[in-house]
Amino acid sequence: MALRKIVTKEDPVLRKISRKVEVFDKRLWDLLDDMKETLYKAEGAGLAAPQVGVLKRVVVIDVGDGYIELVNPEITEKSEEIQEEAEGCLSVPGEYGITRRPKWVIVKAQNREGKWVIYKGEDLKARCFCHELDHLDGTLYIDKVVRMLEPDEVE
Ligand code: NI
Repeated sequence: MALRKIVTKEDPVLRKISRKVEVFDKRLWDLLDDMKETLYKAEGAGLAAPQVGVLKRVVVIDVGDGYIELVNPEITEKSEEIQEEAEGCLSVPGEYGITRRPKWVIVKAQNREGKWVIYKGEDLKARCFCHELDHLDGTLYIDKVVRMLEPDEVE
């Protein structure tokens, strides 16, 4: 495993559409392993492949209830109920903003072997799923933020 460099918001790679993963080989597993190490080192809740400069539909997440890997993820269902909470991004260091996200979402994704798995996320996990999946389509949370937090609002 190796740490990868996390790119920041000015990098055009964050604005591109990531490609679907077709081959579930060692190269993908190395990417996932590196992303896992990079996520924990950065103490983030989630990391998407474009953030390490790789335009593949790959996401790793750990909001504190276990580590998961999402390959080719899609939101298949979401609540009408909305949550408004603070959100940050490893590619936008030191800043936080309030976003509107569904209260819960259902995500369908492949694991590293290519097997389809269904996940449900509520609250923080729903926000994280939405945030990371947005990265795969070149969207950052700062594009849809309700308002950015002032420095004295950040704990
Ligand atoms: Ni992010």
